[in-house]
Amino acid sequence: MTAAREVTPEQFRHVMRHVPTGVAVVTAAGPLGLAVGSFVSVSLEPPLAGFFVARTSTTWPRIEPLGRFCVNVLGEDGEDTSRAFAVSGGDKFGGVSWRESPMGSPVLDGALAWFDCTTHSVTDAGDHVFVLADVHELSVRNSGRPLIFCHGTYQRLSRKEV
Ligand SMILES: Cc1cc2nc3c(=O)[nH]c(=O)nc-3n(C[C@H](O)[C@H](O)[C@H](O)COP(=O)(O)O)c2cc1C
Repeated sequence: MTAAREVTPEQFRHVMRHVPTGVAVVTAAGPLGLAVGSFVSVSLEPPLAGFFVARTSTTWPRIEPLGRFCVNVLGEDGEDTSRAFAVSGGDKFGGVSWRESPMGSPVLDGALAWFDCTTHSVTDAGDHVFVLADVHELSVRNSGRPLIFCHGTYQRLSRKEV
């Protein structure tokens, strides 16, 4: 068997640019928030979802002790919101309107869908941690299309005729 080839961060990043993701903002009381492209459904019974956070995040260490947060999935008009929450530090909520979720985390007015969560577990994942969440409440706010991130830019879905 041949030895596994070393994958460089540059190669990894280059190829991963071709993998599309949705865009979500993880919010918590404060208000606190950060943009993530790694939000994923994990389990139906029990309802679990998760995302990955870089160890360099300055916001996650402030959310983690609260033990609760809301995941806001952005619609295709959410590009400015995503940019605001992808900046480290500062007042990310200036100009962003929101209300409290049933569990007291911010639900962004522009969100397509939201998930009110508590932390189930936080697991080492290389230079990230994997946050597994119990979902307690969830709702679709409008029927718009999701914001997509791929090839290093924001994209929109278009329906393909079949
Ligand atoms: C489209 C997009 C997706 C992102 N996905 C993630 C992610 O899944 N995990 C993560 O830790 N950071 C992700 N980021 C980067 C964070 O939003 C960014 O590092 C932010 O500055 C963190 O802020 P903080 O230092 O306040 O935590 C993403 C950024 C963008 C624009």
